[in-house]
Amino acid sequence: MTVLVTGAAGFIGTATATALRAAGHDVVAVDAMVPQAHVRPVTAPEGVHVLDVRAADDWVGLLRGVDVVCHLAAMVGAGVTVADLPLYAAHNDLGTASLLAAMARAGVPRFVQASSMVVYGEARYRCPDHGHQTPAPRTVEDLEAGRFDNACPRCGRVLDWETVTEDALLDPRSSYAASKVAQEHYATAWARQAPGSAISLRYHNVYGPGMPRNTPYSGVAAIFRSAMEAGRAPVVFEDGGQVRDFVHVEDVARANVAAVQAVGGRDQGSHAAYNVCSGEPVTILDVARMVTAGSAASLSPVVSGEYRLGDVRHVVASPARAADELGFTARVGPKEGLARFARDPLRA
Ligand code: UD1
Repeated sequence: MTVLVTGAAGFIGTATATALRAAGHDVVAVDAMVPQAHVRPVTAPEGVHVLDVRAADDWVGLLRGVDVVCHLAAMVGAGVTVADLPLYAAHNDLGTASLLAAMARAGVPRFVQASSMVVYGEARYRCPDHGHQTPAPRTVEDLEAGRFDNACPRCGRVLDWETVTEDALLDPRSSYAASKVAQEHYATAWARQAPGSAISLRYHNVYGPGMPRNTPYSGVAAIFRSAMEAGRAPVVFEDGGQVRDFVHVEDVARANVAAVQAVGGRDQGSHAAYNVCSGEPVTILDVARMVTAGSAASLSPVVSGEYRLGDVRHVVASPARAADELGFTARVGPKEGLARFARDPLRA
């Protein structure tokens, strides 16, 4: 098949384009080379068309003859201030809408999109006495007092987390999360109206070689690695007990290939979402320990008790639907992958 990959020069895009070619597909690589994601001066790798998805109508000719679009281009990160809102809306909301409209014009009927676990907000929670509970966002007062765990709204007991499945209610809590929910909704609308078939992959915390260095928009794994390169210990926020699922970029690339190959077999008008995760949850303190243990520098993580207001406490998802319906199961567990990551090259 011919697959047009947006964001093809990025961290996940580069790995995905490589995996698609290895699976025998032709790749049309597109990237806007936005300065937030690339080193200055921004130079596109060979073979990458420097184009912006927001102007996809201008390059609709490139979409003709394409079987599937794999849309990875996006502004990432949690959104540093509200001043970033228009940036997320422009690149992620408008970009996706423009791309889908151009795909309809060019007659491309299949769409695979990079979504994120941030669409869920918090994990699923259960109180031992009162059953399933949906905690409200944590208050400044609680966080200041070091009460990081979500408490049962009925009895105040600390809630236990459970894995989230794809049918959970979406609860975006940052500008980035809001734009990822919007992308999924545009995909649903496009699939019905075009008609076409669409798959959204909800990536969990992606890490691996080629990850961008520490920027205000980076995920925690890159921040820990960059700190260590600078000879500083990784700083773990809260009490380090936050639980996440770290999934290796090679597995994310494999999930993209699986979705690209599956989306053509789906009913016209359909949209489905899948968690892309390792299935092996870890705490952030464990992540810091694994990254420091794998490194030559003898640095130990520092648990600072700091917090970021937009952060959720735990988010862990079930990998079952992706395994059942896409045949995707992660191969690299966090223990092996994070030890390797301690030595992997980051993006220059
Ligand atoms: C991250 C990404 C999100 C992405 C998702 C899935 C960011 C900011 N967040 O969400 O965009 O969709 O993974 O791939 O890119 N922490 C520390 N020390 C630090 C920085 C962070 O302990 O120096 C903690 C945070 O408080 C948080 C955890 O690490 O509890 C994870 O942080 P981070 O990777 O930034 O965000 P996620 O919410 O997991």
